[in-house]
Amino acid sequence: MELRQFGPDDLDDVRGRVEILNAASAVDSPWDHPATESDERGFLRFGWDKEPMLAFVAVEDGKAVGLGEYSTSEWDNKHLAWLGVVVAPEHRRRGYGTQILEALVERARGEGRSSVGIDAWESETAIAFATKHGFERKSQAINRRQTLADIDWTTVERDREQAAAATAAYELVRRTGLTPDDELSALAGLTAAINDAPTDDLDIEDEVFPPERVRDYEEAQLGRKQALFRIVARHRETGELAGHTVVAVEEERPWIGHQHDTAVSPAHRGNRLGLLLKADMMLWLRADQPQVLTVDTWNAESNDHMIGVNKALGYQILGRGLQFQRDL
Ligand SMILES: CC(C)(COP(=O)(O)OP(=O)(O)OC[C@H]1O[C@@H](n2cnc3c(N)ncnc32)[C@H](O)[C@@H]1OP(=O)(O)O)[C@@H](O)C(=O)NCCC(=O)NCCS
Repeated sequence: MELRQFGPDDLDDVRGRVEILNAASAVDSPWDHPATESDERGFLRFGWDKEPMLAFVAVEDGKAVGLGEYSTSEWDNKHLAWLGVVVAPEHRRRGYGTQILEALVERARGEGRSSVGIDAWESETAIAFATKHGFERKSQAINRRQTLADIDWTTVERDREQAAAATAAYELVRRTGLTPDDELSALAGLTAAINDAPTDDLDIEDEVFPPERVRDYEEAQLGRKQALFRIVARHRETGELAGHTVVAVEEERPWIGHQHDTAVSPAHRGNRLGLLLKADMMLWLRADQPQVLTVDTWNAESNDHMIGVNKALGYQILGRGLQFQRDL
């Protein structure tokens, strides 16, 4: 088996990647939106915030049988490489997953990393594979979807009214696209509040968010053809940014929305700003992007506050993701 690195302009390999991702998803996570060539190309080019992963295809006898992914950051967590291994369903249990994983772990060792992580949809297969390779289960997260046609909008409007009454000290500012330059530093400070979301037993450091990284994230998403909708709560008296929430809407499939960060800074917590921001986002999307049918979100299963808000807003569970980690 050959493990070959490829990039966004290697179109045959991108196509092969999409085929394997979709074949795997039909078995492992049938609720997932299918991968598309253009989204995968964008993701391989821009990543989440301009630190795209290295992508590999495993080839045997000229046929793509599996995928490898290798992600690191220059901003923080330099001890860590996050890995991905996917084997096409018809080629499983023949040792390909092991060969791909071992090559990625070797790469991490060669770079002097002291830890590797990997994630998977919850299944006996993934747990057995991870355990066999010395990984321990460290965290779990739930993927939920909001189907906007099923939403009881009277409740959402009432939630927003009640939360707005409790948070009269704040104004909501709606923004599309890039954050204005003069607000980027304040937004970077607020973005760091996401570090208070639980990470369970994972050996990871807080992420750092200098303004350049926040800009990189915004430009990467726009580069991937994801339209950005952000609502910021500003404290009227001090002008401080107290909270924000971001939803990305795909340009290629404009009926699909993805919830990105929602965070309230520590000094402003406990005022129902989380509910206010998210309810306002729903009402904004309904008015401005009525073609959006669903919004998907991920939360650590232990994140009671955010999950409480999401349940109140009609999110339904799709599946559980597991994060494993191993020291090198
Ligand atoms: C997990 C996955 C990558 C394994 O790929 P694979 O090529 O089938 O793995 P291997 O053949 O190298 O299996 C290695 C060992 O893992 C364990 N394992 C793999 N699949 C298993 C299953 N369905 N049930 C029980 N154990 C399993 C076994 O110990 C196996 O060794 P053995 O065959 O000698 O008993 C593949 O099932 C997959 O792509 N799943 C979806 C993506 C995913 O979950 N990736 C991350 C996993 S942490």
